[in-house]
Amino acid sequence: MFSVFETAQTRDRDNAGGIEYLGGLAVDLFVFREESPMAYPRIASLKTHDQFISRLAELGLKLPSDENVQQGEESPLAQPIQLKHDVIGNRFCILPMEGWDGTTDGKPSELTRRRWKNFGISGAKLIWGGEAVAVRHDGRANPNQLIMTESNLASIESLRHDLVAAHEERFGNSDDLLVGLQLTHSGRFARPNEKARAEPLIAQRNPGLDPRFGITDDSKLLSDDDLKRLIEDFIAAAVRSQRAGYRFVDVKHCHGYLGHELLGGHDRAGEFGGSFENRTRFLRDIVAGIRSEAPQLEIGVRVSIFDFVPYKPGNDRVGIPEPNANPKLMFGGDGSGAGMDLNDPSRLMSLFESLGIELVCSTAGSPYYNPHIQRPAYFPPSDGYQPPEDPLVGVVRQIQATAKIKQMHPNLTIVGSGYTYLQDWLPNVGQAVVRTGMADSIGLGRMVLSYPDLPADVIDGNVMTRKKVCRTFSDCTTAPRNGIVSGCYPLDPFYKAMPERKQLAALKSDG
Ligand SMILES: Cc1cc2nc3c(=O)[nH]c(=O)nc-3n(C[C@H](O)[C@H](O)[C@H](O)COP(=O)(O)O)c2cc1C
Ligand code: SF4
Repeated sequence: MFSVFETAQTRDRDNAGGIEYLGGLAVDLFVFREESPMAYPRIASLKTHDQFISRLAELGLKLPSDENVQQGEESPLAQPIQLKHDVIGNRFCILPMEGWDGTTDGKPSELTRRRWKNFGISGAKLIWGGEAVAVRHDGRANPNQLIMTESNLASIESLRHDLVAAHEERFGNSDDLLVGLQLTHSGRFARPNEKARAEPLIAQRNPGLDPRFGITDDSKLLSDDDLKRLIEDFIAAAVRSQRAGYRFVDVKHCHGYLGHELLGGHDRAGEFGGSFENRTRFLRDIVAGIRSEAPQLEIGVRVSIFDFVPYKPGNDRVGIPEPNANPKLMFGGDGSGAGMDLNDPSRLMSLFESLGIELVCSTAGSPYYNPHIQRPAYFPPSDGYQPPEDPLVGVVRQIQATAKIKQMHPNLTIVGSGYTYLQDWLPNVGQAVVRTGMADSIGLGRMVLSYPDLPADVIDGNVMTRKKVCRTFSDCTTAPRNGIVSGCYPLDPFYKAMPERKQLAALKSDG
């Protein structure tokens, strides 16, 4: 294991190589962070495209990457996508990312607006949902999550206005900008009232997760009638989203939240569990209701297309699979707990096609129980575990799984996720993926928190600003896990200057 001292030295070497983001104050945050006992070469150390390709080869990974990234109108990443009723101006998408910074009654704050304006100036022409917005109070993942109630409609509408206005100011118009809203119920991960108090509402018992929530009986199980009422709440929130000017809603089915847990509901009895038909009833009924109440509104689904069992830190803090887990409950899992079988997810895609759903955003796993497959990172969040594999493996797993789904369902418009760990090589891989039809759009998560206008820089052919490249320090996840608003504390000058940065540094040094 690297010592703290060696970690700092390693970073000094990078500084000498010109990575300014490690300079000055930044170091006090990082110096307490341990590197993985499994020391993987850092992406910033792969200085040439050849070195990046060699590292992929060493790991036995198949990933296309273009040595030269094209700019301007000819760029594969600048090509529009024609949907049935809409056009998306290019191949970059901003993935939903909440900031744990809404008001307690579920309205956006100034921090929320700043983030959405940054999404607007990014240059990406598809905004996938902005952030998770609860359809009702008990579905909030934290007491500061937005809620799409009648009384919040106007402020959530003005959030969209802010984003579109920022986009128009920078790029002249918003004719080919598509903006949706992500609707959610957090289910097992609900914390609606207090940051520190989990109030789970679950789809089924799960031996790998229940002990983490203190669940010992069926009292937290949502009944079929509960789910039917919740379906009505999703439909009502979708209707409000349309009134607020959103062009589509994402009926969220990913990351272990309720919709996703239902997809893996093999152990659930009744109308919403067991068979594929039952496990997708929640989604189908919501879609049918939206079609009837808001026929002009488009629908997308963000789905974890495969899942592994929950992981936990082993003796050396490297992640290991939870021994009590039941692999059968993982949607898109192969039954081993750490492998995928895309048959069920492919069936889900066929269902989307039959329901007239064009937009799919593919992601994987859950940020809570297996973050190494969901958002590959060099440094884990404070409640995580050291990566059990080179994070590049996790990136390629998601890209390849998405490509398989795209190959089987070429008529769907599919956005991929999990690209941020590629760092300096993200544009090279993104271009190659789009050029070869492995996905239609490149979704950006953490990278736009640290480098908001990366898409515009890539398409304009500007040299990437290395000091803004996300190095997957995970502070944007560690902060909210400790009750602090999320943001890129290491690299975004705005968050760097916030008092919360010192609070974060203090809790990391205590840890
Ligand atoms: C701070 C933060 C907040 C997030 N919030 C959401 C969310 O509200 N909804 C969602 O579907 N995914 C959310 N995600 C996951 C991202 O959309 C994305 O899938 C993930 O970060 C992997 O993509 P990346 O490698 O580009 O970061 C969040 C991620 C981060 C880092
Ligand atoms: S966006 Fe910032 S805080 Fe989040 S992982 Fe990247 S560098 Fe770290």
